[in-house]
Amino acid sequence: MANESVCPFGPQLQHYWSRLSPLEQRMQIDVEGLYSLAQQSIMDQITTLIPGETAIDAFCGVGGSAIGLARAGKQVISIDSDAKRIAMARHNAALFEVEDRIEFRVGDTLKILPTLRADAIFLDPPWGGPDYSKQAKFHLKDFSPDGTTLLELSLDRATQVIIRIPRNFEMSELSPYDGTFNLTENYLNQKLMHYTAYFSNWFHATQTNQSNRLKNNARITGKPSRPE
Ligand SMILES: C[S@@+](CC[C@H](N)C(=O)[O-])C[C@H]1O[C@@H](n2cnc3c(N)ncnc32)[C@H](O)[C@@H]1O
Repeated sequence: MANESVCPFGPQLQHYWSRLSPLEQRMQIDVEGLYSLAQQSIMDQITTLIPGETAIDAFCGVGGSAIGLARAGKQVISIDSDAKRIAMARHNAALFEVEDRIEFRVGDTLKILPTLRADAIFLDPPWGGPDYSKQAKFHLKDFSPDGTTLLELSLDRATQVIIRIPRNFEMSELSPYDGTFNLTENYLNQKLMHYTAYFSNWFHATQTNQSNRLKNNARITGKPSRPE
């Protein structure tokens, strides 16, 4: 349901502000945090398809994705290179009463990820600002850091890797991963917002935990679903 309170960042960002829930409008947030926030209604769709108990949120922002993962019961490590945004995310985690489930780290994800392991890694790297949608096609190299680097690094550190991808993404670039991922569409108020791709590293899963692999398999190899 659209929320008609006035956007504190000006009328040009009102449409981003209006789609937040009343609790989300009480979050500490900056401009980039606002237009890139993973809203809880979207995170609720995404987390139903993420098995396991631990998750790394590789791009924290002001905490939307970390809070969503924690609300789904995961123990989360959440990383961002911007210390101010991490401070906002810490405040916001308390607002949603999940601060005890999230450990925040300030730093470069490319340096920190190789030192960690988790059941799942959630990737929400910058798309280059709202103008990403003016490109005819969005490519893996347009994520920042580069999408291929992020996927390869993450698949080495977790049994499942999840990435939010824009509507104009060039899907043929995922063909090297055919058979190892599912794709879902994420809607808000009947509007397609973006896609989410769920990649599985079955080799790693078999090596580390056979029963977890079977549980994962039951949850995510079904027909890609369209969340309500
Ligand atoms: C799309 S936003 C994340 C939004 C977040 N998932 C949310 O729901 O609020 C991307 C974030 O990545 C951070 N970032 C960009 N490059 C990074 C890097 N190399 N390491 C860590 N964080 C980075 C930016 O500071 C920004 O806050």
